[in-house]
Amino acid sequence: MSRIIAIANQKGGVGKTTTSINLGVGLSRAGKKVCLVDLDPQGNATQGLGYNPDEQDITIATIMEKIISKDFNITQEFGVLHHEEGIDLIPSSIDLSLMEMKLLSVYIGREKILNTYLEMIYHLYDYIIIDCKPSLDIITLNALTAADGVLIPVQAQYYSAKGLEQLLGTISQVVTEGLNSSLAVDGILFTLANNRTNNYKQITDIVKNTYGHSIHIFSSTIPRAVTAEEAPAAGMSIYQYDPTGTVSKAYNDFTCEFMILEEGV
Ligand SMILES: Nc1ncnc2c1ncn2[C@@H]1O[C@H](COP(=O)(O)OP(=O)(O)OP(=O)(O)O)[C@@H](O)[C@H]1O
Ligand SMILES: [Mg+2]
Repeated sequence: MSRIIAIANQKGGVGKTTTSINLGVGLSRAGKKVCLVDLDPQGNATQGLGYNPDEQDITIATIMEKIISKDFNITQEFGVLHHEEGIDLIPSSIDLSLMEMKLLSVYIGREKILNTYLEMIYHLYDYIIIDCKPSLDIITLNALTAADGVLIPVQAQYYSAKGLEQLLGTISQVVTEGLNSSLAVDGILFTLANNRTNNYKQITDIVKNTYGHSIHIFSSTIPRAVTAEEAPAAGMSIYQYDPTGTVSKAYNDFTCEFMILEEGV
């Protein structure tokens, strides 16, 4: 059974893209068929896998435009890039920034454009991972409408808890307003962690005490390491860039924990 996971947090720089790439490649290394959809006009996931966003003829914006204009003549291969680490990518570029205006001019079903496309490729993959942009706009709403689950990377910082409240409010609105009644929160992943500091412990305790009773909090956490900052410029996952490093081990552990949660294996 295929699962669509949106990796979302409207707060910027919390590790959404890094988690999208390394969970995606991690699942692919575990033998899963994975497609990563870059749904951010910044194109960081595209870049992080070694592609230049400005050089892509077809991006997720092209595909969404086709769906908006009811041109459903899209082959399964349309726009798909095959990365050497085994993961497929639907790239993004700055073109996606015009999509918000275009979507707002769609009268009915503007939240479901991405969903319509993903239904066409759903059967090809075990996991489709959507790397969301740092905002809760109509584009991210398209991801939440299409997804089965939301994974929330959280950096243990003072402002994180407040931002979480807003994100969880939007998710519950997506459910209650019928856009996607089966949307679930898969869990919170602590990223850029420095678990030796008091601040880290305080903030993670607040998040655990506030949300831990209703939301899964992954026991794996992702530490901060300079190699994780360098890997995107090399266009590769952390497993390939720094196979024996702490971040590689952490994403590997997290991927196993994620698969147990999703598949019970
Ligand atoms: N574990 C880590 N250790 C060190 N640096 C990291 C780690 N994870 C991510 N980074 C770096 O932190 C920055 C933000 O990470 P990332 O791009 O994954 O966040 P994001 O939430 O996708 O950001 P945005 O909101 O802009 O999309 C990047 O420069 C990335 O390389
Ligand atoms: Mg990002």
